[in-house]
Amino acid sequence: MSNQLIVVAGGTGNLGGKIVRVLLDKGAQVRVLVRSTSDAEIVSHLEQIGAEVAAVDMTSEQAIATACTGATCVVSALAGLHDVVIEAQKVLLNGAVLAGVPRFIPSDYSLDFTKFTDGENRNLDLRRDFHTYLNKAPIAATTIFNGAFMDMLTNEIPMILFKKNLVLYWGNADHKIGFTTVADTAMFTANVALDASTPRYLRIAGDRISPRKIRDVMSELSGKRFRMLRTGGLGLLGVLIKIARLMAPAKTDLYPAWQGMQYMRNMMDERATVNTTDNNRYAGMKWTTVKDLISEQKPSWQ
Ligand SMILES: NC(=O)c1ccc[n+]([C@@H]2O[C@H](COP(=O)([O-])OP(=O)(O)OC[C@H]3O[C@@H](n4cnc5c(N)ncnc54)[C@H](OP(=O)(O)O)[C@@H]3O)[C@@H](O)[C@H]2O)c1
Repeated sequence: MSNQLIVVAGGTGNLGGKIVRVLLDKGAQVRVLVRSTSDAEIVSHLEQIGAEVAAVDMTSEQAIATACTGATCVVSALAGLHDVVIEAQKVLLNGAVLAGVPRFIPSDYSLDFTKFTDGENRNLDLRRDFHTYLNKAPIAATTIFNGAFMDMLTNEIPMILFKKNLVLYWGNADHKIGFTTVADTAMFTANVALDASTPRYLRIAGDRISPRKIRDVMSELSGKRFRMLRTGGLGLLGVLIKIARLMAPAKTDLYPAWQGMQYMRNMMDERATVNTTDNNRYAGMKWTTVKDLISEQKPSWQ
């Protein structure tokens, strides 16, 4: 149990809400920064489960500093583009520094983007950009690299075609992709928030699994013969991304189709290979594998 005060920004969101819940379960005092426009039902739910809610002007460093007073860590789980990842997070970071908070967790929760270069993935470029600012700030930062959210395999990532008994993939069928569920990422992040001495980067993966192994898992669980379908190489995917981006620039959309394609290209890239993880850093964590997830969710494969 911990009686530390942890401030969470983005606690009304999917990942942030789960981080808040785990922190409360661990006995931490949790203060969630919300906006006047945040969903009232979600805010009231956060209060019901025991979080303290601070409605703040997220554009005011001073207001954030006041709300962060006494905290041992500020956790960001904000989601957005330049106005959020760079601008809002800068204000949040500056507020945390002003309040003398010793530690900060930026809203990264992604593939290890230190391995990639600008222009390959718009959303990851923004995070690298924010790091150039974060790394100069007088606060200890810890980034969590969790690969792709595994939960998206059953809905958003076009890889397992449940009704067609197919596994689609780009590039190498044996390339291992790092996946972690949102719940496991939240549990690990809460542990990191309460851990006074963490390094700059931590890497986790609930599973490291190739498209071929995913095919095997699907065949085993469904009792049907799943097949592999290679949609093309990563070079072709790169060309398609350029065309999709020209046709629909979607400058304000967080996840336009071409952004998803950029993530897919990065996921299948050898540079994203997760060789070692920090999965064992905290006792008691049980990691969900792709097989666990599919078994639990039982998506229809008829
Ligand atoms: N690795 C992966 O596969 C993967 C997949 C999805 C997401 N992620 C990452 O996980 C993190 C959290 O994403 P999520 O899906 O949980 O997000 P989400 O559910 O969309 O929640 C976003 C949160 O950000 C807050 N927010 C947005 N703009 C803001 C601003 N200008 N000022 C203050 N608060 C603002 C929202 O507050 P309001 O309620 O006030 O709007 C909300 O609490 C992000 O870093 C995201 O990129 C990773």
